[in-house]
Amino acid sequence: MREFHSYRPAEGHRLKHEPANAIVAPRPIGWISTVSAEGVANLAPFSLFNIASYRPLIIGFSSGGEKDSVRNARETGEFVWNLVGRDVTDVMILTGDEVGPDVDEFDMAGIEKIASVDVAPPRVAASPAQFECKVTEIVHLKDLDGIPSDFRMVFGQVVHVHINQECLLDGIYQTTHAVPVSRGGGPADYYEARADALVQKWRRGPVTPVDRKREFSK
Ligand SMILES: Cc1cc2nc3c(=O)[nH]c(=O)nc-3n(C[C@H](O)[C@H](O)[C@H](O)COP(=O)(O)O)c2cc1C
Repeated sequence: MREFHSYRPAEGHRLKHEPANAIVAPRPIGWISTVSAEGVANLAPFSLFNIASYRPLIIGFSSGGEKDSVRNARETGEFVWNLVGRDVTDVMILTGDEVGPDVDEFDMAGIEKIASVDVAPPRVAASPAQFECKVTEIVHLKDLDGIPSDFRMVFGQVVHVHINQECLLDGIYQTTHAVPVSRGGGPADYYEARADALVQKWRRGPVTPVDRKREFSK
């Protein structure tokens, strides 16, 4: 027999901590760089983040309130996503601190910038991969009664991709070469993805070009 702790979120979870964040985890981190209308660079992490469309390639992050990243994306129509590898996790956490819009978080955390090609926001030089994006829409999320929540989802189409060559092997991107770090449930918990933690779909025989084609067309 299976027993479940069940609840309606509107009525409270009856646990010591909100579990939703820990259930939907680990989550990839949207480390988002933007530039304000005044030209100040901004960098902040958003774990409410993912790919929303493959064709065209669209990614999105969700912000509780009109944070600097959202305001900049709205005003300039551009942002960059920087993949968080293990090497940059500590400085990524520093950029989660709430600071004024006049503070350049790259400088604050001692993070080296690298220029983007098609958008103004700089990239994080030490990040293993970056997507330059142009904003397609910003959705103010509503509840079942149509009442606006505090959250805004920013979607952007990827217009330029940069991959550190060290993450490529025989022309294939190797997820674990970047040692990506994802967010766990609690405010201090993160998980890294390593090759020894790989769970692979059972296959009969070696990976064929057809398998590869099927995987990449998903
Ligand atoms: C790992 C991590 C993930 C975070 N995820 C989110 C998120 O998904 N949405 C959000 O509103 N804030 C999130 N935060 C908090 C923001 O990063 C923080 O409020 C930041 O100061 C916002 O910066 P900005 O005002 O420059 O945009 C996260 C913080 C950390 C450290």
